Amino acid sequence: MPADDFVVTPWHVKGDIDYDKLIKRFGTEGITSELRDRIKRVAGEDHFMLRRGIFFSHRDMNIILDKYEGGGGFFLYTGRGPSGHTHIGHLVPWVFARWLQEKFDVNMYFQITDDEKFYSKPDLTLEDTTKFAYENALDFVALGFNPEKTKIIINTRNIQTLYPIAARVAKKINFSNTKATFGFTNETNIGMIFYTSLQSAPCFIEDKPVLIPLGVDQDPHFRLTRDIAPKIGQQKPALIHNIMIPGLEGPGGKMSASDERGTIYTTDSPEEVRKKINKYAFSGGQQDIEQHRIHGGDPDIDVSYQYLRIFFEPDDDKLRTIYDDYKSGRLLSGELKAILIEKINKFLAVHQEKREKAKSQVEQFLFENK
Ligand code: TRP
Repeated sequence: MPADDFVVTPWHVKGDIDYDKLIKRFGTEGITSELRDRIKRVAGEDHFMLRRGIFFSHRDMNIILDKYEGGGGFFLYTGRGPSGHTHIGHLVPWVFARWLQEKFDVNMYFQITDDEKFYSKPDLTLEDTTKFAYENALDFVALGFNPEKTKIIINTRNIQTLYPIAARVAKKINFSNTKATFGFTNETNIGMIFYTSLQSAPCFIEDKPVLIPLGVDQDPHFRLTRDIAPKIGQQKPALIHNIMIPGLEGPGGKMSASDERGTIYTTDSPEEVRKKINKYAFSGGQQDIEQHRIHGGDPDIDVSYQYLRIFFEPDDDKLRTIYDDYKSGRLLSGELKAILIEKINKFLAVHQEKREKAKSQVEQFLFENK
């Protein structure tokens, strides 16, 4: 891998991602200010994740808006591979999806792929991933989706519904396509090779166009889905992509649920959050206070600042002040971390309460096979 290069696939994210290059590499479209304005106009509200380019790329978002404005409607779909507890990075597309559901008043499907993570993680048993499926579902429900319009699909539980759709998809994807898309080898287990057809299945669960908010690493699955959609008489899924959320220890990768130190879980205590941020959050500050006061810090590489930008400080004015103060050296790294710790802990206090309540609500969200 050349020094300036990076890797983004559903199972592997590495290097310093250049998002403009990624748009070209994947063949997606950047979100222009015209499109942002249009979403804002149609939704009746702006979202800071759009404004800040956290959602930066899309496929066919305009077609979805055309349909909606024409009164045709669409539905939402996203998902989670249950390889561990939910961490705060996972919440980015889910929070945005919830906002979309509220603004457009549409159905939402959430797929939890316990089979996928069993196939892709050598150390996880199917019991492990099914257990995490339930844990992750609680975080999803806690975000406040409309219970009348939201269903959680768990692959091993809902295979009866998914399989006939997946079969139609699978018949149109050949091995050389998946191999080229994901870099499979002769050693790859055949569960992985079939898997894309299962992730495609919810796209066709309703006879309407689908919009999928998702981390850009998941785009390759839907590139394949889009290629075959016309061949099975279906519309291509539309996508809106978010950037990868950096791990605590810095840019050059996504936050991974299997790396405990670099990860803030939704189940962490205030003390754990404080310790992890203070100890591991990559700092854009100078070596010592004196140097920092003179030269200032670099918010663009500072993970604490990035978390505020991506999720925890929706107020643009407050964020701007933090940016300026950090860059000028007025705000020290420790002080910036303290701001983030307080924000995360406030958020988690509320989230954890809702997560407890979700234990008695989750059942009504589970998709029932027909
Ligand atoms: N493969 C995804 C993951 O590992 C889970 C997933 C299933 C998904 N369906 C999806 C993600 C649709 C985004 C959109 O997390």
